[in-house]
Amino acid sequence: MKGLVIYDSSYGNTRKIAETITETLKESGMEADLFNVKNVKKLNAKDYNFLVLGSPTRFGTMSFGIRFFLRKVNSEEWMNKSFVAFDTELPENIEHKEWSAAEKIAEIFKDKKMNQLLPVLKAVVLGQKGLLKEGEIERTKDYTRDLAIKLKEEKI
Ligand SMILES: Cc1cc2nc3c(=O)[nH]c(=O)nc-3n(C[C@H](O)[C@H](O)[C@H](O)COP(=O)(O)O)c2cc1C
Repeated sequence: MKGLVIYDSSYGNTRKIAETITETLKESGMEADLFNVKNVKKLNAKDYNFLVLGSPTRFGTMSFGIRFFLRKVNSEEWMNKSFVAFDTELPENIEHKEWSAAEKIAEIFKDKKMNQLLPVLKAVVLGQKGLLKEGEIERTKDYTRDLAIKLKEEKI
């Protein structure tokens, strides 16, 4: 079972979440490739069973890099593949589903008939440049362990 983890990050917080997800997937017996969205040249859906996509929240939505990347996700190739989405955002944004980058990514993937495995993960940053709030790395590990269980249960 192999996953593709892709993220965008200006200040390193979303990258840390993506790295934690990738490491935890591997500890849970999965294969996973990790890429900064800027380094994704070509997407081979057939190489992967699931996709994990993460963005910093910018002006209530995903970053420009992630928006551009989503245009490359070919609906026919990725249809019926599984995904989860995550973002980083400020504490005051958390209650607002409509301003979450990850929720918007999830809507786009669902429109492409992809299968959402878990609710989105929203990691809290303190201030425009971060740091991540205490406990967010541990929460990300727990989320990823749940993801691994789900992947195994559904034999993805
Ligand atoms: C131009 C700009 C706009 C932002 N807009 C939002 C926003 O609308 N909502 C929010 O929660 N955080 C916002 N932030 C804070 C980002 O969520 C934060 O910079 C990001 O999570 C950091 O991730 P990174 O370290 O991976 O770049 C904004 C930050 C910048 C620089």
